[in-house]
Order: sequence, then C-alpha cells, then structure tokens
Amino acid sequence: MDDEPIDQGKRNFLKAMIVVSAGAAVVGVANGVIRNLITPAAGLTSFPTLTLVDEATGAPIHTSDIKVNSTKAYIFYYPLDNDPNFLLRLGDTSNNDVRVTPQNVSIPATGAVFRSPGGVGPYGSVVSFSAICQHLGCIPPIIHYYSGGSAIPGHPSLSSPTGFIHCNCHGSTYDPAQGAAVVTGPTVKPLPNVVLDFDPITDTYKVRSMLGPTIYGKPSDLEGGTPFPSGTTTTKVSQVSVAGA
Ligand code: FES
Repeated sequence: MDDEPIDQGKRNFLKAMIVVSAGAAVVGVANGVIRNLITPAAGLTSFPTLTLVDEATGAPIHTSDIKVNSTKAYIFYYPLDNDPNFLLRLGDTSNNDVRVTPQNVSIPATGAVFRSPGGVGPYGSVVSFSAICQHLGCIPPIIHYYSGGSAIPGHPSLSSPTGFIHCNCHGSTYDPAQGAAVVTGPTVKPLPNVVLDFDPITDTYKVRSMLGPTIYGKPSDLEGGTPFPSGTTTTKVSQVSVAGA
C-alpha cells in the first residue's frame, strides 16, 4: 500500500479534523481547553468485526503493507465510522520488528488496570490504538507517532527504541510498546487499545473490539458517532502525513 489518495468523504473528514485540531492546539495551549469533535449520534449494540483493507484498492492489507517506522500514520476508523485509530508496526531504530507482549496497563485517573493484548502479525509487532488524545481530544496529525530515536518535543530525555505516540496540543505522551500507557501528562488515561486478529494463512488483519478506557469524550465506544452502514465488513486504512514528516 503506497501513498494513494483517500476517498473524498474521509478526505473531507480528515481535513476538517486537521484544521480544527490545529486551531484547537493554539486555543488549547492558551486556555487549556479543547473540545472533542465527536457529536452525539446513534450507536451500536456490539463491536463489529471488520477486515482492514487498503483504501485505494479495497484489498485486504498484508503485513508488508504496514511499514516499520513509517513516516506516515496509518489511520483507520473503528468502531464507528468517525473514530480514528493508529495502526503501527513497531520496530527498533534499525527497522527490525519488535514483539509486543500482553501486559497490564494502569489507568491513573481511576486506578483501574486493564490487560493490553500485545502485538499481532508474524512478528507480534502490529498494534493499534485510538488516535484521539485522552487529555482533551486532539487528533492526527497533532497527535502522532514518533519512531524510535525521534526527539519528543518538550521531553528531550525520553527515549525508546520503539518510539512514542505524542500529542503536541499539551504534551501528553503514550508508549505504544506498553499498551499506550501514559508516559507524560497531562493525560491521566492511556489510549484505548484496539483488538486485532491476525490470520497467518492469508496474512490479513481484522479488528474486533476495544479495551481500556473509552474513546475520549464518550460514555461508550459504541456511541457518539456515525455507525458504518449496515452490512459493512471492512474498514479502510489510509496513510496520513504527520507533522514534520
Ligand atoms: S489534547 Fe492535551 S495533550 Fe493531547
């Protein structure tokens, strides 16, 4: 999957999110207030199971389509059609896959702990998290993935071979190799984890549920947005340029 154009609907949505997020960053830094973009709407009664497909071709994505340390963010929508998520294939600074093991992740805001499922794929290195910051709801590209060795703005001492997810609105940082656990505030919640299934026979990926805190601004992951049309079996993965990439 190369840098194909995204379809018009998602393009308009992303443009709107980027513009609003950029503006929100300025306002938020000044006032400490950023409002979530998701407006209440109809929801679902259960998590759908959807195959990850290439936005350009509609074909299922394979492991080789997900680049280690990509300079672009892989984004797909789940569980509702306007909930963006990161799809990451974690590697070290030499672009070798790094296996992510299941682990307990704490939610500082509540003291609760959830079990992060770890990585999937042939190398156990593919992970996925909500792309909406848990602090005040900023979205890509304001929040994005910094690969291993990248400097994290405002946190020059932070270092990890597998990098971090960092939000430039107010500086929250999450560790994608630790279930998107909180590394630096002001967030007090990890990013919600997206549960992936990998089929080693077909080398394809399905998304089937979410774990951890609910998506920012929502009482439930299944509410507060636009469901996929009835009968939908896939969700499209697009590549979005990130700030500085
Ligand atoms: S919205 Fe404040 S750090 Fe992300």
